[in-house]
Amino acid sequence: MTVVLSVEPTVSAPALRLRPWRGEDAVALVAAHRDPLLRRWLTTSLVREADARRWIDDQNDGWTAGVRFSVVKGGVDPTDASAEVGYWVSAEARGRGIAPRALEAVSAWALGSQCMMPLARLDLLHAVDNHASCRVAEKCRYGLHSVLPAQPPAFPTEGHLHVRTNTAAESVSVE
Ligand SMILES: CC(C)(COP(=O)(O)OP(=O)(O)OC[C@H]1O[C@@H](n2cnc3c(N)ncnc32)[C@H](O)[C@@H]1OP(=O)(O)O)[C@@H](O)C(=O)NCCC(=O)NCCS
Repeated sequence: MTVVLSVEPTVSAPALRLRPWRGEDAVALVAAHRDPLLRRWLTTSLVREADARRWIDDQNDGWTAGVRFSVVKGGVDPTDASAEVGYWVSAEARGRGIAPRALEAVSAWALGSQCMMPLARLDLLHAVDNHASCRVAEKCRYGLHSVLPAQPPAFPTEGHLHVRTNTAAESVSVE
């Protein structure tokens, strides 16, 4: 089953449509990954179109297996009904509230009754000095749960673990 989530427009930003990745997104994915900020904060760097195609295939395989939902990525742990969310926005679209609006829609869907396997908890991790990411977490009601120790070389600074749990009425518009 394919899930597509819709988010209403705001005065300063267009409507959003969250859908699984497609093969033809590979070119745009490689272009977005040329941005130094994205390369700084993401653990995956997609340099060639073939890498991007493989990455898209992995996301879609994860969706089929019930462990991953993209465009805002989420890794699901079926054993404890929790998942990890992550996000990035291409450089030219930042600062317009796109990540929080997209994350809010995905969070409400994943924690709500419209999801085929509603979750009890969503985890969000970011490096302590990634202030933009911390703001997205706060705007989407992911409370700061704990400060995680650095794990060099992959994670050279401490991290924040934010958590959002299933509160009563999570609802979202699904196409
Ligand atoms: C983190 C990120 C997804 C935020 O997306 P966004 O759609 O720009 O989110 P917002 O518009 O709500 O802005 C969030 C914060 O980014 C900062 N920001 C604002 N305009 C910005 C711009 N033009 N460029 C960069 N950051 C900006 C501000 O601190 C803002 O917080 P504020 O609204 O309280 O001022 C985006 O900056 C990004 O893709 N960063 C690189 C990848 C990354 O860090 N991903 C998270 C890994 S944990």
